[in-house]
Amino acid sequence: MAFPLSELIGLCHLALSGSCGKGDTVLDATAGRGHDTLFLASLVGAEGRVLALDRQEEALSSAAVLLRERGMENRVRLMLVDHAEMAELLERELPVGRELSAAVFNLGFLPGSDKRIRTSAASTLKALKAVWPFLRHGGLLCVHAYSGHEGAVEEAAAVDAWMSALDWKSSRVTACGQRNKTVRPETLYLARKL
Ligand SMILES: C[S@@+](CC[C@H](N)C(=O)[O-])C[C@H]1O[C@@H](n2cnc3c(N)ncnc32)[C@H](O)[C@@H]1O
Repeated sequence: MAFPLSELIGLCHLALSGSCGKGDTVLDATAGRGHDTLFLASLVGAEGRVLALDRQEEALSSAAVLLRERGMENRVRLMLVDHAEMAELLERELPVGRELSAAVFNLGFLPGSDKRIRTSAASTLKALKAVWPFLRHGGLLCVHAYSGHEGAVEEAAAVDAWMSALDWKSSRVTACGQRNKTVRPETLYLARKL
């Protein structure tokens, strides 16, 4: 599969496509305007389920339009919720015995919207810790971290520290950064649960 080399999103999608299949249940923890959600919906197919959440109504409305346009709305459960409430949400929304094949966090704010409504180190870490036990063995956790907006560097550092502390015996963590982007470089973390 080809992806734009300069874009970590393409790399993220490539990794996801090798980690989820038809009928799987997956999570988009920052749905935004629904681009990652749509991609996940295409991977899990009509029998699969995407749990997609965002704390902004505006984001979910855009995502809903996109999913309807592509005929994928029935595969996705859009939820207006803060991902800091992830543990309760997954207890409630995941059918008993079901695990996640993949989870995606694209951090930061909604492009074209209020930049003050953004993810934070505290809420993101709480959500990551809650998601990890629900990930199946072989499942993938993707986190796209930024460095340009207020609080982004601290948040990325918190994600890095948490990812780096995951046990080598039960996980593999890879980080990809933009080595020649001198202004506001981004990092993609890919954590595989063994
Ligand atoms: C970079 S955008 C996500 C882009 C999206 N993945 C896409 O494909 O369009 C980040 C999103 O995170 C959302 N967000 C910020 N803090 C959040 C939180 N605590 N819980 C859930 N969503 C949050 C924002 O509202 C914003 O829509």
